[in-house]
Amino acid sequence: MGAGVIVGAGLVGAAALPARAHSGTPRRMPTSRLPKPYSVPFARPPLAVPLRTDASTDYHRIVMAPIRAEIIPGFSTTLWAYNGSVPGPTLRVARGRRVVARFVNELPFLHPVLGYEAYTSIHLHGGASKPQYDGYASDIIHPGQYKDYVWENHECARPMWFHDHAVHHTWSNVHMGLAAQYWIDDPADDVFGLPRGDYEVPLHFSDALFQADGELALHLDDLKGLWGDVMLVNGRPWPRMTVHRRKYRFRMVNGCVSRTLFWRLSTGDPVVVVATDAGLVPQPISVTKVRHVNGERFDVVIDFAKYPPGTRVELRNDSLPYNEDFPNTDRIMAFDVVDEPFDPANNDVPALLAPDNPVMTRPASDSRRVRNLRTKRQGGEWTINGHTWHDVIDSRFRLVEASPLLGTTEVWEYQNNSGGWSHPMHTHGVDARLLSRNGRAPYPYEVGPKDTFHVGENEKLRILVCFDLPGKYMIHCHNGVHEDHDMMSQYQTVDPAGPAPDPFSAPALPLPDPPL
Ligand code: C2O
Ligand code: CU
Ligand code: CU
Repeated sequence: MGAGVIVGAGLVGAAALPARAHSGTPRRMPTSRLPKPYSVPFARPPLAVPLRTDASTDYHRIVMAPIRAEIIPGFSTTLWAYNGSVPGPTLRVARGRRVVARFVNELPFLHPVLGYEAYTSIHLHGGASKPQYDGYASDIIHPGQYKDYVWENHECARPMWFHDHAVHHTWSNVHMGLAAQYWIDDPADDVFGLPRGDYEVPLHFSDALFQADGELALHLDDLKGLWGDVMLVNGRPWPRMTVHRRKYRFRMVNGCVSRTLFWRLSTGDPVVVVATDAGLVPQPISVTKVRHVNGERFDVVIDFAKYPPGTRVELRNDSLPYNEDFPNTDRIMAFDVVDEPFDPANNDVPALLAPDNPVMTRPASDSRRVRNLRTKRQGGEWTINGHTWHDVIDSRFRLVEASPLLGTTEVWEYQNNSGGWSHPMHTHGVDARLLSRNGRAPYPYEVGPKDTFHVGENEKLRILVCFDLPGKYMIHCHNGVHEDHDMMSQYQTVDPAGPAPDPFSAPALPLPDPPL
């Protein structure tokens, strides 16, 4: 398993990008030109290497710039990369070590197809970031600017990802490639013996549609979403990964703009969920099938020990309502079992993992109040309680759906009665747990600390939410197209001790940037 994922043909400036005439729908790449599933080898994104470190802090400098990459064999695609890689390099940090991540916007002034200004904002999804470092959608980095994000990493070990969150252009910025995994590691968890090193593998899922010339087809379906006919793992179409006869820990992120995944192994065998969005689950969960929405994370242990060498185990994807299917969107990737010697260490799943995580043990009776959040489409836009991010902007960022008191717990009820769609709802700055789905128990694989929840058609979810960070944070649908049009609002956790930092209190600065 080599490092490096998409090797671009080097960084290119805006001027070098191919001009594209856009009148009407561009010509799609014919299915016959797409690679056959499992013909392209698997690769991992590179690891992010800090520019320097000191006793407390890792300093990273991450440049956002276009690359040309070969995703479809024989074609070249323009992408937007973090440090030349799509997805971006995986950033790993030990719990309690600070990360200062400088994001430098070297994107072209205008998006080559959609024509909007290529400003960005970076959100660490799942992180307990201060408001000014949380990727507040309207706190943007213009081309020619940079911003230092300070992330303290005191939260318990968890699978996270950082991705673009720029106001009204999040879906296309993410789809162009601005996304990467971010793991907080806790050395205290080493006792569990979970797979590590070569056997701890990021799987960043996305999907894409291509034009006949190899460029991304940026085609939206009535603001419902974007559905690709090519399934990508770490930027590779339907890759084939060679695996040894032992356990692997796969760290899975659904990075698709809109597609909900419903994955399972082709063998019908169970897999073991060991972590959800916000950390290790109380006890390992054996399941045969997981519905996995945009932004949600699952850490899954798959044991290949029992398969004879030569076995191919596929990761399949079953159809769900409100997703567009194409000939091969029912497949994601394949694992080819080989008979090679391997390191037998860290090949365990213990019976108990994190039973004492406060968000899992706090009784629902601690809740100070119940709040209702209704999802709805009105006037062509998607809304939360009838509100959009435009309303938040028009209120000069004062409009909030809730003002919980710091250190308290509330029950939030997500209600999707308007019919006709489902929404992956995400709340920033909190860990939460699902109490019930339509009055029934959560699905087995939802029994863990989380921040993103599938809210299906005609469903009502009750969620216990803990407010431990003062300030304003966003609430939104993680279908990127819904989010941009304009299904996003905010809440504000009130600290009786005084005002919280404002989301705009650390604005981006002009390049060139001083030494980090
Ligand atoms: Cu991953 Cu506000 O999002
Ligand atoms: Cu988030
Ligand atoms: Cu939605």
